[in-house]
Amino acid sequence: MEETEFIWLDGQMVPWKEAKIHVLAHALHYGSGVFEGIRCYMTDKGTAVVRLQDHIKRLFFSATSFRMKMPYKEAEIAKAVIDTIRKNELDAGYIRPIIFYGYGKMGLNPVGADLNIAIAVWPWGSYLGENAIKVKTVSFIRTHPKSTNPDAKITGNYANSIFCSIEAKEAGFDEALVLDYKGEVSEGPGENVFWVKKGTVFTIPLGTVLPGITRKCVMDICADEGIKCVEKDAKLAELKQADEAFYTGTAAEVTAIGQIDSDTIGEGDIGPITKKLRDIYLAAVKGKNPRYGHWLTYA
Ligand SMILES: Cc1ncc(COP(=O)(O)O)c(C=O)c1O
Repeated sequence: MEETEFIWLDGQMVPWKEAKIHVLAHALHYGSGVFEGIRCYMTDKGTAVVRLQDHIKRLFFSATSFRMKMPYKEAEIAKAVIDTIRKNELDAGYIRPIIFYGYGKMGLNPVGADLNIAIAVWPWGSYLGENAIKVKTVSFIRTHPKSTNPDAKITGNYANSIFCSIEAKEAGFDEALVLDYKGEVSEGPGENVFWVKKGTVFTIPLGTVLPGITRKCVMDICADEGIKCVEKDAKLAELKQADEAFYTGTAAEVTAIGQIDSDTIGEGDIGPITKKLRDIYLAAVKGKNPRYGHWLTYA
């Protein structure tokens, strides 16, 4: 990863290499952290953060679900994000705020342990590449929604995503596709899934999948473009018979899926509706579409 100079840690700008924590921090052992992945892009008016307020809201929701008593208000963390971008003179890249139970308690219930909060930023290009990807339906299922809070972005939840990702990569695929406990489609390890059939766009309803902010962007674009977008549960076969399929995520942006297991989707390349949605999304986050100016916070 490409380093920058400073990390915001518990209210201070700390040199990147000195942003350290104790080896007995609770979160290191049990995954008791919550985090966000946010992107910023260079625009004609300078660096712009995409849907900052929505990300900070989800971060605070995740923290509340873990009974974290936040010592900062949402606006203060949003300002700290902007300050960290400015301090590092970052043009475009990725922003990782994380809140975690730190040192001082080792039982499974961390409530009352110290909280640490960090914000790191660094340049990070395309996550899954520019071309249509090959995904593998993996043998691991998505964590049951009653085994966690599926709406929260909790570090411990990502053990499941790591298993899925490793299995897909070891089998020579670009990314995993994960089914839920009913054997139906849920999402990628770090992406929401969409598919297109006869001009209608579909995505999985909330409940078993992370309420992705890019998912919401794409649904908003569909509404604005008069493209019907429907939330519905789906079996794997429905996805495999789609005309187009794609992943959305802050890191993945809008990435076409050209193949699921050994089945080609559409022409195996980015389809026309996916391309349209991707082009509008990328123009919006790069400040080139005034209709979505309200998505952006300038640093
Ligand atoms: C499991 C999972 N699903 C979906 C997403 C996409 O969410 P967003 O668009 O908010 O980045 C992510 C990324 O945060 C994720 O980790």
